[in-house]
Amino acid sequence: MRVGHAAPASGNAETPMHANLDAQSPDLTAAAQRLRPARLADLFAQDPERARRLSFGWNDWHVDVSKERIDAPALAQLLQLATQANLAHWIAALFAGEKLNLSEQRPALHPALRAPDADAVVVDGVDVAAEMRATRERMATLATAIRDRQRVGATGRPITQIVNIGIGGSDLGPRLCCDALADPGETAAGSPEIAFVSNVDPAHLARTLARCDAAATLFIVTSKTFTTQETLANAQGARAWLARELGATAGLAPHFVAVTTNVGAARAFGMREDDIFPMAEGVGGRYSLWSAVGLSIALRLGWRRFAEMLEGAHAMDLHFRQTPFPRNLPVILGVLACWNTRWLGHSQRVVVPYAQALARLPAYLQQLQLESNGKSVTRDGAALRAPSAAAVWGDVGTDSQHAFFQWLHQGTQEVPVEFIVPVRARHPLGDQQRLLVANALAQAQALLVGRHDDALRKELLAQGYAGTQLEAAIAARRCPGNRASTTILLPQLDARNLGALLALYEHRTFVEAILYGINPFDQWGVELGKTLAKPVAAALAGDAHAVDGADASTRTLVEKARALAADGR
Ligand code: F6P
Repeated sequence: MRVGHAAPASGNAETPMHANLDAQSPDLTAAAQRLRPARLADLFAQDPERARRLSFGWNDWHVDVSKERIDAPALAQLLQLATQANLAHWIAALFAGEKLNLSEQRPALHPALRAPDADAVVVDGVDVAAEMRATRERMATLATAIRDRQRVGATGRPITQIVNIGIGGSDLGPRLCCDALADPGETAAGSPEIAFVSNVDPAHLARTLARCDAAATLFIVTSKTFTTQETLANAQGARAWLARELGATAGLAPHFVAVTTNVGAARAFGMREDDIFPMAEGVGGRYSLWSAVGLSIALRLGWRRFAEMLEGAHAMDLHFRQTPFPRNLPVILGVLACWNTRWLGHSQRVVVPYAQALARLPAYLQQLQLESNGKSVTRDGAALRAPSAAAVWGDVGTDSQHAFFQWLHQGTQEVPVEFIVPVRARHPLGDQQRLLVANALAQAQALLVGRHDDALRKELLAQGYAGTQLEAAIAARRCPGNRASTTILLPQLDARNLGALLALYEHRTFVEAILYGINPFDQWGVELGKTLAKPVAAALAGDAHAVDGADASTRTLVEKARALAADGR
């Protein structure tokens, strides 16, 4: 079935963006005019029910958007916009496995990967769910074999160390999950050690190999395409190292498994048939951790925890599919993201997980949101008439309080912040978790209320300040407040909640894409750099004419880099 199109978003690129938004939704333009100059504190004063009205529950989660620059009528108008954009239709099409990725004529099958076994997902006449089930069974078998020390390397020693070689979606999701869910005594309790090598910088592989025992190491070469330059270079580097360490004659195949759609290329690399784990073409890299790309998670944490992540993600899928928009978390967060970008003009969003275990979440979200929605054309190929996704960045709390929070509190621009706060510690230690949660809530409060002149004047007068010194001291300490944030409270960071959280972000990204009218499932912009790297690499290797057609700056940089490289020889 051909997927229908949402309300057209294409038009004349010359038209000013605000004019297009006015035409698209005059009510929202009026709401933005009303709310942009409003003080958030006044909105709370005017509506004693505001915190309740603008907070949303799901299971035992609590999502509070009352500190965003929004009110209930504007939110209702945004939900109306989502309805006009045919969001319900698009959600149904996503879950039906329709080919939403028009530029590549592919479906987006990540929800199917976590669907219960009974559900069939038919693409081009094939039940892809059955293939996914078969792969899952093989993943579970390998996880058990490794964790039971049944898988042995070339010398007969059991595998106890895993290195995932992959980049982008073949790295970020699995790395985040392994990091997030490992217990402090994970390795001592019998789980294999895990490392991730993504960068083609030789230091990444070299430092990792320095910690590995070749006879006990298994490399998972994770690459949907099996053509990614960085991953192939690192896989070849790993093979050369194994050959050196174990002797070139040793059969190295037991030290490798592959995760890929390109089974032929994995075979050509030397992978054994049983060690190749396929994935469907319709699973996008940044949406792939639920597929065989999650093999590293299953090996490191065991099948049970990986399966619980799938269950948590599926629970969020059901919520997204079945819940009316006014209580639907991905929809609410998606329309709010669009509101912040398009109507309030924020080109950035900061994400701060108050959980060391989620240290990799900002990097994961950067790929998910920016590779998906960093587009300038609609799915029909017309220029966008208003901005798409905001840049996302961040780091863990409380560390980031001692880095960029100064800029958030007193800098010249307001950037909405997202606080993610698992309330209970999985591994409590003294009073630390309470302090962690207190800091998260207090920072959101501080962004809202700020620090104002009257209170400061009183404090500073009491300390003996006077005259121009007093005025300067007030100015330096003043925090304007009135800065927006969302807070997501989770009971605890376990496998189910992590699965649900990542699925929430996937679906929010999808909702945003539908409102922008873009295809979130392709990434053509990434290709150009990859293509241009080839002649530059050839030039660095000595091909005198490889960059003849390049601009003068690039040619000079190549020349200088060659000279510097030669100096070091
Ligand atoms: O960065 C571009 C990209 O194509 C991502 O979408 C993908 O996750 C990554 O490269 C890795 O690709 P592959 O899994 O094919 O090696």
